[in-house]
Amino acid sequence: MAKLIYINGQYLPHHHAAVHVEDRAFLFGDAVYEVIACIHGHLADERAHLDRLERSCSELQLHMPVERETLRVLMRELLRKNKTSNSAIYIQITRGSAKRDFKFPSPDTRPTLMMMTPAFDFENNQGVLNGIKVKTVHDIRWKRRDVKSILLLPQSMAKQEAVDAGCGDAWMVDDEGFITEGSASNAYIVKGNEIITRPVTTAILKGTTRNALQNLCAGLGYKFTERKFKPEEAYKADEAFVTGATTLVTPVLEIDGHSIKDGKIGDVSKGLLKEYLAYVEGLRMKQVSWESGL
Ligand code: PDD
Repeated sequence: MAKLIYINGQYLPHHHAAVHVEDRAFLFGDAVYEVIACIHGHLADERAHLDRLERSCSELQLHMPVERETLRVLMRELLRKNKTSNSAIYIQITRGSAKRDFKFPSPDTRPTLMMMTPAFDFENNQGVLNGIKVKTVHDIRWKRRDVKSILLLPQSMAKQEAVDAGCGDAWMVDDEGFITEGSASNAYIVKGNEIITRPVTTAILKGTTRNALQNLCAGLGYKFTERKFKPEEAYKADEAFVTGATTLVTPVLEIDGHSIKDGKIGDVSKGLLKEYLAYVEGLRMKQVSWESGL
């Protein structure tokens, strides 16, 4: 059975789920989103994702269509109806449908809330299991990358350029030659016991996985260093990897044709993946199980 999609209070079959042509997401890309991994029925780092969703909305003066607690119930209901406990949940909030006009519509315009549950088999993620190659590309995005907006054409073009070159992802490079992040992930290099990643500013998205990793590093004896780095430095790193809700910790084995060390998955990336999954499981134990209702 095709999966149901949640739209504004209704759970609709996939082929009936639609928004109005004047929805501001369709006309202006006027919307924000979140992707949360659902692992063994648990929404990984749910609070951090919802915090970021609320922040993205507030930065764009977009109203949350429902209270946080209601949203949590709706997400669970969609997962339950779709009979899935290993998937991702995609949440999108748009400014709603209004006559095409660049200025924002009146504040009583109803926002659109859409949610779907794309497949996500975290145990058989080929990138995570085998590592990926990366290609660097020019970062041509807007300047508010801290907001998780749906303006993703530059990321989509970056990813396509990488895929055309036989790579699994793109690392975007700013005008000064420094790597910002992956097309849908944060980027890291490893040197000895030091994990290096770009500081959080409006130039990148503050990843929830990045945040979790930063906290885990202290306990594992790794030094988490927030500084910019260039591709030339990355080529000579001991290891490299990316993180994201669905990429988890994905090892990067080659950048622009340069093998990272021996081109094999390194111990730090491997260890961090294990620790991250344990962290997610640990969080799971603290929550009331709702999975039995599936
Ligand atoms: N992307 N940077 C960018 C540009 C991203 O799009 C993402 C996530 C991340 C990592 O954030 P997090 O760890 O919170 O998932 C960093 C999601 C997964 C997506 O667009 O599908």
